[in-house]
Amino acid sequence: MNIGILGLGTVGGGVVNVLGKNESEIFARTGEKINITHAAVKNVSEPRICNDGNINITQDAFEVVNNTDIDVILELIGGTTIAKDLVIAAINNNKHVITANKALIATHGNELLALAQEKNVHLLFEAAVAGGIPILKSLEQGLSANKIELVAGIINGTGNFILTEMRDKGRNFADVLKEAQDLGYAEADPTFDVEGIDAAHKLAILASIAYGCELQMNQVSTEGISQISGEDVAFATEFNYSIKHLGIAKKINGELQMRVHPTLIPKTQLLANVDGVMNAVLVQGNAVGPTLYYGAGAGDEATASAVIADLVDIIKGTVSHDIFGWKNLIKIPNCKPDDIESVFYLRLLATDKPGVLADITAILSKHNISVESVIQKQIDQQNNAHIAIITNRVKTANLKTAITQIQDHEFIQESVKIIHVENLD
Ligand code: HSE
Repeated sequence: MNIGILGLGTVGGGVVNVLGKNESEIFARTGEKINITHAAVKNVSEPRICNDGNINITQDAFEVVNNTDIDVILELIGGTTIAKDLVIAAINNNKHVITANKALIATHGNELLALAQEKNVHLLFEAAVAGGIPILKSLEQGLSANKIELVAGIINGTGNFILTEMRDKGRNFADVLKEAQDLGYAEADPTFDVEGIDAAHKLAILASIAYGCELQMNQVSTEGISQISGEDVAFATEFNYSIKHLGIAKKINGELQMRVHPTLIPKTQLLANVDGVMNAVLVQGNAVGPTLYYGAGAGDEATASAVIADLVDIIKGTVSHDIFGWKNLIKIPNCKPDDIESVFYLRLLATDKPGVLADITAILSKHNISVESVIQKQIDQQNNAHIAIITNRVKTANLKTAITQIQDHEFIQESVKIIHVENLD
């Protein structure tokens, strides 16, 4: 089996290293020798994390995808421009393709998978979601007897690292993001991490596999963590919650909800204790109940582990030709964001004078929203106070109307902060 790699950076280098160090185990499992014969890189003379001594290196990636001796292409460049052209060329040349590229699969997966099906080759992407955690294989294979009720995951390591450091060390957002970039966790464009786009890519893929529907990246409602302040982290802790950036996909009454947003989770729940750069995905099946998958969501060898597992599947012929493992992909109507019901955390900066809290709760109750818990803290000489509220379960549309009315009051000093609260048990 001859392999061509596009990109010998963190993931590509990791693949070469893991194939080298685990050669005998992988051979024992497949009975086949895996040869990385060619690799394309941006800069031939750049230092690399792997030994590339036996690999033919070129700067022309099309030379690799057009090479007739190569059976499988590993696309480990990233992005949706040149990577897309290369994947299309490889498939048209009847080569199997394995990619770690979540942006490419989430935004162009429908057409690429259709092309792969037409050409009777595989396009596999386990490494695109949650790095080393075999979550797609778990959904496709181990959970195939289940109707999936919920997928909820911490699927961006950078965001989880930032929130954990803010909570545990009181560090500020910008500092921790800089460290995440230095450690190599963040995307080339870190706004993909902090504005939730990376998590939305991964969630669109997870939802497709879990519910057997087309990829619908444009239907993922997406909110990042850049607006989470130290006050929110501290209030959440006081309420006995942790703030986690979650991707949630669930089907309710035949409608699919796909949302990525910061979420308060009770501290006692497992997901609330997934810290640092680690990822975890909770999947609830109607037969198995809740299951949880935890592991490294990024990093050279962890991501390589998922890439090579796809390669092993191709060699062993254990991959189904039915894309996603479903015979027919269906279209599932999407739930309108305003129709989503949730518990909410609200934080208001208000003038601290008699009657303010009563006015706020009166407006909430007019919209059928009740207050489950409240904490107030005076913060400055101007007699302003932070008021943090946990509501009951309400329809998003109702909450938005109530907040618009509260916001209009002269005693409110800045935009009301709204964060979802989820009890995932
Ligand atoms: N930037 C991504 C993260 C890398 O932080 O999770 C892995 O997809």
